[in-house]
Amino acid sequence: MSSKLLRMAVTTAAALALVGAAPATADRTPVATTTAYGGGDDFTIVGHRGASGYRPEHTLASYELAARMGADYVEPDLVTTKDGVLVARHEPEIGGTTDVADHPEFASRKTTKSLDGVATTGWFTEDFTLTELKTLRANERIPDVRQHNTIYDGRYEVPTFQEVIDLVKRLSRELHRDIGIYPETKHPTYFRKQGLALEPKVLDALNRNGLNRPGAKVYVQSFEVTNLIELHRKLRVPLVQLTSATGAPFDFVDSGDPRTYADIVSAAGLRDVAKYAKGVGPDKNQVIPRDSAGFLLAPTTLVRDAHRAGLVVHPYTFRAENTFLPADFRSSAIPAEYGDLFAEIAAFRAAGVDGLFTDNTDIAVAQEQLAAAHR
Ligand code: G3P
Ligand code: CA
Repeated sequence: MSSKLLRMAVTTAAALALVGAAPATADRTPVATTTAYGGGDDFTIVGHRGASGYRPEHTLASYELAARMGADYVEPDLVTTKDGVLVARHEPEIGGTTDVADHPEFASRKTTKSLDGVATTGWFTEDFTLTELKTLRANERIPDVRQHNTIYDGRYEVPTFQEVIDLVKRLSRELHRDIGIYPETKHPTYFRKQGLALEPKVLDALNRNGLNRPGAKVYVQSFEVTNLIELHRKLRVPLVQLTSATGAPFDFVDSGDPRTYADIVSAAGLRDVAKYAKGVGPDKNQVIPRDSAGFLLAPTTLVRDAHRAGLVVHPYTFRAENTFLPADFRSSAIPAEYGDLFAEIAAFRAAGVDGLFTDNTDIAVAQEQLAAAHR
């Protein structure tokens, strides 16, 4: 075993030991003793933006690869076009993930808008009809980290939500398993204020496709609260409240509600979430924080408190490159090189999470298989 791998093995073991051995405090009670690592067989693997470690995110190619790698769900983030069609993009601004800048016919559409209070310059989906958007092609968002993905630049369209649903249905038939879909409403307040509310379109799409029913393999997620509560009244599929490590839901900011994401992941906050949602999707650092050098600390009480409230916990985002990993599991100082995502997933499994969002479905699936083999 190389010294690098040996260090990884040692740090993995140390991290897992830390998870189980950390002293209890009011804020950081260890939870590993309540859920043994690898102890469940219903762990949920969500292909985050598809298989975005290997293909430009939010393309049909990315979703298809995630499904073929074994993802339980694929995750489209949803925004809307000018003519009200839901499409899969991480945000309304598309300069970072498409070739729109290379289209002189759209040069005049470049503008600056306030996106949830942040001045953002670029091109926005709500300024394009679907027909116009379909003339663009997707590009890799982080080419410096994922140079290999850039070979796919310019090859794939921006998919509609309907195209994602159609793909999932086709692959479910072909692969003989029910592949789920885990859509996220992106910037709901921003779109509602432009007369382009996302929620009726999501409701309509799920209804039209026979997916708004108990037992449908669907979760609907949002970083905002108000729209999830509204959807709770109309949807018959489970909802997931997303939370960030800092800040507050923009609908709260917009309405003057002082509550923050920290309030939402408190024990009382999670009991409130359980009134309209079945799960919480925290930033992974809210489950196992890091110290100032990037090493994992003891888990917080989030998983325990969520479980007590009856919520599942699906943190985001698990990625193989060093730049996204805790210092414990990095292989080198080079950001784009792969570290030990297996070990990171193991640490979060030991902390009791019920699933996770990952850009590397293949690694998450392999980790589950290895864990199962040792049970
Ligand atoms: O929805 C889970 C995760 O995707 C949230 O983060 O910014 O990647 O959509 P983001
Ligand atoms: Ca998302």
